[in-house]
Amino acid sequence: MEPLRIGIAGAGAIAQRNAREAATSGAAKIVGVFDVNQKVARDMASALKAPFFSTYEDLLRSQEVEAVLLSTPHHLHRPQTVQAANAGKHVLVEKPMANNLEEAEEMIRACRENGVKLTVNYSFRYLPKIRKAKELIDAGLLGTITGIQIISHQFKDPGYWTGARSNSPDNWRASREKCGGGYLIMNVCHIIDYIYFLTGLKASRIYSEYGTLGSPAEVEDIISISYRLDNGAIGSISASSIMRGTEQSEERIWGTNGSLILNGEGISFYSTRPIDGKRPGQLYTLKKFPEFSWTAEWVRQFAAAVRKADGQPEVSSREGWENLAFIRSAYASLERGAPLEIPKFETVR
Ligand SMILES: NC(=O)c1ccc[n+]([C@@H]2O[C@H](COP(=O)([O-])OP(=O)(O)OC[C@H]3O[C@@H](n4cnc5c(N)ncnc54)[C@H](O)[C@@H]3O)[C@@H](O)[C@H]2O)c1
Repeated sequence: MEPLRIGIAGAGAIAQRNAREAATSGAAKIVGVFDVNQKVARDMASALKAPFFSTYEDLLRSQEVEAVLLSTPHHLHRPQTVQAANAGKHVLVEKPMANNLEEAEEMIRACRENGVKLTVNYSFRYLPKIRKAKELIDAGLLGTITGIQIISHQFKDPGYWTGARSNSPDNWRASREKCGGGYLIMNVCHIIDYIYFLTGLKASRIYSEYGTLGSPAEVEDIISISYRLDNGAIGSISASSIMRGTEQSEERIWGTNGSLILNGEGISFYSTRPIDGKRPGQLYTLKKFPEFSWTAEWVRQFAAAVRKADGQPEVSSREGWENLAFIRSAYASLERGAPLEIPKFETVR
């Protein structure tokens, strides 16, 4: 397959990994780099032996560029995607897809109208641990899913919000207008993506409580969410970026036949059925998973979708929208002071 020729926009923290993994994926070639911070763009361009561009418009004008990889602050995802689509370029955009559903819909329309493809970087689903969990669930481990619990507790120091961890420091993460929200839209969005991917379920009703209780930011650093899934199952999220000392990240999914736990240890599972060659009625833990470049896999899958006339990105813009529908409804429920129905993608024109 001829490598997908990618122009990079945004050469900050995560772009280091994105560009490196795209370049080494075997499915893409970096043919341009742009960032408003010219120093980081020049550094990346020289490291990748790719041309440097001093404006986004110049990058989009380049005939060499077939697709753009946007690793920019959230409020720029919409305008930069629309501009790229209008220039006939495919788009790989970082998560979250955008800051709100209207923006995401504009991106979907612009890509559809210009006949270009769009994907969102929900690539954690390519982690071997997540793939194995999917295989177990698809084999009937859980039966009918009845409950999901997400715990995501970390400590993010003040510098996280002010850009101190980035090679291109800026405090956009602390701004509600630029970031769209806090720990939920920034971090927990990944977990929501792979929970949807693993279960095939979507949330239908949601309520949240959140606040900013320990960070120099306008956006939340602690959130608690209750939700109902479309099959009637019940889910909850406890997430915080101000948890000192006892950090924990764990997802539990359970059903009529069994349960599965994903955490830093690996996967633990129990089933009343024989699964994965194991006897029923016992708790098993799988700890060893191979190293795998999940971002490179995301790029490979997208490149393959572009090269095939009717190819569809594995991480679709619809899924990006549905992820955002969960997040925006969670935020809106507190503002409304009541549980909210989550909009369905079918309503999008
Ligand atoms: N997939 C992941 O695991 C992961 C991890 C971290 C961040 N992210 C996402 O990546 C995106 C960027 O986050 P980051 O941590 O790299 O932020 P960052 O602040 O380190 O980098 C953002 C870069 O965008 C540049 N920029 C700002 N305005 C621009 C413009 N108009 N055009 C081009 N470049 C511009 C900045 O100069 C900076 O270099 C966000 O969407 C974030 O949520 C994803």
